[in-house]
Amino acid sequence: MKKCLFLITLAFVILLSSFVSGKIGGGDISFRSGKIRDAIFSHDSHVSDIGLKCTECHDSLYITKEKHKKATMLEMRKGVSCGACHNGKRAFDVRGNCSNCHKKD
Ligand code: HEC
Ligand code: HEC
Ligand code: HEC
Repeated sequence: MKKCLFLITLAFVILLSSFVSGKIGGGDISFRSGKIRDAIFSHDSHVSDIGLKCTECHDSLYITKEKHKKATMLEMRKGVSCGACHNGKRAFDVRGNCSNCHKKD
């Protein structure tokens, strides 16, 4: 039952992304980040360039922008959200590299 629900949600996610626009997840996603520049997440680079599967992030880490669970940098250092991969092993570390993610003026 759990697996079934997951597959339905995944199908929904994939449908949504292909109908709403040509871009996966509707294009780049930006996150308000208090006083510093917004952080930008790119489906294009994570999926097309880096080659990650949708299921690496959906639905365990992320669902939709509307259902976003806000994380702090402190939480990310402990492996939450971007920090699940950006830990200095799998991908560049959230303990530095601020401007890699916080790009927008
Ligand atoms: C590296 C992680 C990652 C991968 C891989 C990934 N996504 Fe996402 N996706 C995200 C993030 C982050 C968001 C924003 C969710 C949030 O704000 O909590 C998102 C949001 C979405 C949304 C919702 C957009 C909206 O407007 O709410 C759709 C649809 C989506 N992704 C589809 C896909 C599909 C289809 C794939 C595979 C081809 C995929 N994603 C792969 C991280 C990922
Ligand atoms: C499932 C693992 C995973 C998650 C979750 C993830 N990333 Fe990545 N990301 C990677 C990998 C792997 C790379 C490529 C290796 C590297 O650059 O160190 C990468 C590269 C990047 C890059 C450089 C390429 C580019 O797009 O300019 C940025 C920026 C980035 N990630 C931002 C984010 C942000 C912001 C989040 C959270 C919203 C996030 N990532 C979540 C795995 C992930
Ligand atoms: C892998 C990408 C990534 C890196 C690297 C990164 N951040 Fe973030 N940061 C984010 C994302 C995404 C959010 C928004 C999270 C949310 O809304 O759930 C965020 C939120 C924040 C916030 C607001 C939340 C809080 O913790 O107060 C601040 C401030 C911040 N970042 C500062 C920094 C600084 C300083 C660095 C470098 C030491 C850094 N970030 C490195 C992705 C990143």
